[in-house]
Amino acid sequence: MAELHVFVTAAAVVLVVAVVSAKTTIEPCSGSDSCQALLGYTLYADMKVSEVAALFATDPAALLAANALDFSAPGAAHRILPMGLFLRVPTRCACADGVRKSVAVRYAARPGDTLATVADVVFAGLASADQIRDENALASADPDAPLDAGRKLVVPLPCVCFNSSDNNLPAVYLSYVVQVGDTVPGIAASYETTVTDVMNVNAMGSPVAAPGDILAIPLPACASQFPKSASDHGLIVANGTYALTAGNCVQCSCGPNSLDLYCTPATLSGSCPSMQCPNSNVMLGNVSIHPTSAGCNVSSCSYGGFVNGTITTSLSAGLQPRCPGPHQFPALTDPPTTVIHDSTYLPPLSAPGPAEAGGVMPEPGSAGSPVQGGPFALPKVSTAKGPAGSVSEAPSMDKSRQILPFLVCCLVFYLHM
Ligand SMILES: *[C@@H]1O[C@H](CO)[C@@H](O)[C@H](O)[C@H]1NC(C)=O
Ligand SMILES: *[C@@H]1O[C@H](CO)[C@@H](O)[C@H](O)[C@H]1NC(C)=O
Ligand SMILES: *[C@@H]1O[C@H](CO)[C@@H](O)[C@H](O)[C@H]1NC(C)=O
Ligand SMILES: *[C@@H]1O[C@H](CO)[C@@H](O)[C@H](O)[C@H]1NC(C)=O
Ligand SMILES: *[C@@H]1O[C@H](CO)[C@@H](O)[C@H](O)[C@H]1NC(C)=O
Repeated sequence: MAELHVFVTAAAVVLVVAVVSAKTTIEPCSGSDSCQALLGYTLYADMKVSEVAALFATDPAALLAANALDFSAPGAAHRILPMGLFLRVPTRCACADGVRKSVAVRYAARPGDTLATVADVVFAGLASADQIRDENALASADPDAPLDAGRKLVVPLPCVCFNSSDNNLPAVYLSYVVQVGDTVPGIAASYETTVTDVMNVNAMGSPVAAPGDILAIPLPACASQFPKSASDHGLIVANGTYALTAGNCVQCSCGPNSLDLYCTPATLSGSCPSMQCPNSNVMLGNVSIHPTSAGCNVSSCSYGGFVNGTITTSLSAGLQPRCPGPHQFPALTDPPTTVIHDSTYLPPLSAPGPAEAGGVMPEPGSAGSPVQGGPFALPKVSTAKGPAGSVSEAPSMDKSRQILPFLVCCLVFYLHM
């Protein structure tokens, strides 16, 4: 048994080293500009759409739209999503303390929470205990010390902007927490990008990532050209997904065939300002097609941003060599009720995507940021620490919890031989 203990302790030390060196891709920045980014989040329990949205201070419809899940279905916000589901959570990527990060999320500690469980379980490894402690100037060095219930914490979350482009094409960046069993080629393949691109974006010397590392994955996207005065300036939508904007009055989609942003009226909000193009009788999203001898005259009423509560639209016409067919939209699916693990990593949903909830994304530090522990209760964090009592002194990180029982199990097997 002494040998077992020594081995487990040694294993824990090795893991601690691995955990401490978990890498996150960091983008230095200055100024106050921000961009839209996505957080790759794996649900730690069955959770309602609205609970996940509140956890990340976003809008339920925006969360669904960013995952190409049916956001206009009645009761969509109350659907229960299964534990283990991987979601892309839209976030505003700001510039704080000289680096890109999302700082809009406030979490109120619940009884039994520790820095480690908040970081590793509730936020699924997107934040580390150290980062939460530093961001909130907490004194305790012990990630397993219970937090005062009700204590409000800023939870800094990793993101990058990189000019919302990749290889000079519009891109939105997903912060992806590397899971046990992931490989860089596997991750690249599942996001239809290349190992080289992932390595370049993340300044990696070799195509190797460890569980717990956070990689920035560029997703092809449709960019907007809204003026700076628009509250949804910089709107960018990942291929295959939707975003809601203008107070949920307008929905914009990207793909699947072209990477031109396409916006139409949304039916989510009861009272919306006019969406008619000026000096015409056509509505936002209407496209008319007139074959002529010189080519196909395509005119459309397109969205130009949400300015001072006004949905700006413009009519544009142009000749194209061939008449386009009817517009194809990214497929929307119902929120899943089960998670299918068909490979070693959690596959992304059919498509990625960012969104801005009509420009109402709370600004960093604003009083309006939703705070956990209010009108709804998040699922409790299990405090189980795995089968081996002797590992309870090991620094508690999610990864060690995942890997240690496995090591202990193998060691026990080995000792029995
Ligand atoms: C940012 O991206 C745009 C295109 O999306 C490009 O025109 C511009 O040069 C880029 N700026 C920098 C600093 O890379
Ligand atoms: C956009 O997504 C569709 C599938 O939804 C895919 O066929 C297409 O190649 C993607 N486009 C880009 C530029 O990645
Ligand atoms: C114009 O757009 C409105 C709203 O999306 C739609 O109901 C209508 O059918 C469209 N008309 C044409 C001619 O496409
Ligand atoms: C194309 O159609 C629009 C209206 O549908 C018209 O205003 C414009 O003059 C046409 N352009 C050409 C080149 O035919
Ligand atoms: C928006 O409204 C404010 C006053 O309410 C005005 O000063 C500003 O010029 C308006 N901006 C635009 C782009 O119309």
